[in-house]
Amino acid sequence: MRGRVWGLTFVGLLICLSHPRIVEIKAIGVLLNGPGMMLVGSLLGTSFARTVLGRVLCWLVTLILLEPLLRWISLGPKPGRRAILLGGSAALGGVALGGYGGLVERKHFVLERFALSLPDLPPELEGVRVVLMADWHCGPVCRPDDLLPAIRLANSCKPDVILVPGDFISRSGDYFHEAAELASLLRPRLPQGVLISWGNHDYWHGLETGLAEMPRAGCQILCNRSLLLTPRLEFSESGSSGLWLCGLDDLWAGQPDLAGTLGQLSDCPRLVMSHNPDLAEEQSGARVDLMVSGHTHGGQIRLPTLGTPVLPSRYGQKYASGWVEAPHYPVYVTRGVGTSSLPIRLGVPPEVTLFVLRRGPRGLLRA
Ligand SMILES: [Fe+2]
Repeated sequence: MRGRVWGLTFVGLLICLSHPRIVEIKAIGVLLNGPGMMLVGSLLGTSFARTVLGRVLCWLVTLILLEPLLRWISLGPKPGRRAILLGGSAALGGVALGGYGGLVERKHFVLERFALSLPDLPPELEGVRVVLMADWHCGPVCRPDDLLPAIRLANSCKPDVILVPGDFISRSGDYFHEAAELASLLRPRLPQGVLISWGNHDYWHGLETGLAEMPRAGCQILCNRSLLLTPRLEFSESGSSGLWLCGLDDLWAGQPDLAGTLGQLSDCPRLVMSHNPDLAEEQSGARVDLMVSGHTHGGQIRLPTLGTPVLPSRYGQKYASGWVEAPHYPVYVTRGVGTSSLPIRLGVPPEVTLFVLRRGPRGLLRA
């Protein structure tokens, strides 16, 4: 028994310390570390759980939690035929679910359409079509061929503006080349109508390439920056009538400046991109009509009764997906387009969102 525990400890530590770019090992690590990651992540924060020290701690916690099971396997009675059959069926079911999540649901993009009412919207901007598509995660799992249907779906909405609040890449900044290639295929009606901000993965894996590549692909970077969509359907740095489209820096890896970005704007309705919806809990006092976010991927896996076991948020399930009433203004959290950590989605299909703007009391209606 003791030898087995030490053996597992050694293998677990090797997985914890393995290079994060080795995606298969990372996926095994996340699976094996699951119980510890959930506990450590919820107590000490997901950011800490992702560090080397955090991953080691996660594995030790996992080992302590699994110790009774290991003891039973080691000392318990030999499994009978029924137990082997049951275990085999459960394992086969797990493989089938994983296969469905990785090969089918992960690539089944859903278009969510809404009529978004905003107070004070100039009549000229009624009917403007805004597409939201976050979390592309271009990388070894989310290949361009996987993501092309999402680009086509976005274009099929005939959008005026496309908002992409971050996490373009996974694993390496080199994947910004693929993200830029995909972005160049987007067809908003307005020139330079793809507005982007950064997510934590963009910072973690190499923002320099993104800073060079994404503008070349026609994107405008809104990192603590705002643009006014005027009644003449043009972008402007200032003005007294229109719709402010604002982008904040990432909460985990960047330096979001709410007061500096939103404080000096004229009193027009505001759509604010923030990769991480947790930012909605912080408040500068400035007007926000709707924050649009990604980051949580809807949890990627939703289990009956248990909900979404892993959600990278300090506020539990609150910001999993959809319309959320934050303390001072609403947030719409998209489930995103790609995947990270585990290359599967179960009960949480990837999403492209279309908002058609209306003038009226603030609200969202499914269209
Ligand atoms: Fe993400």
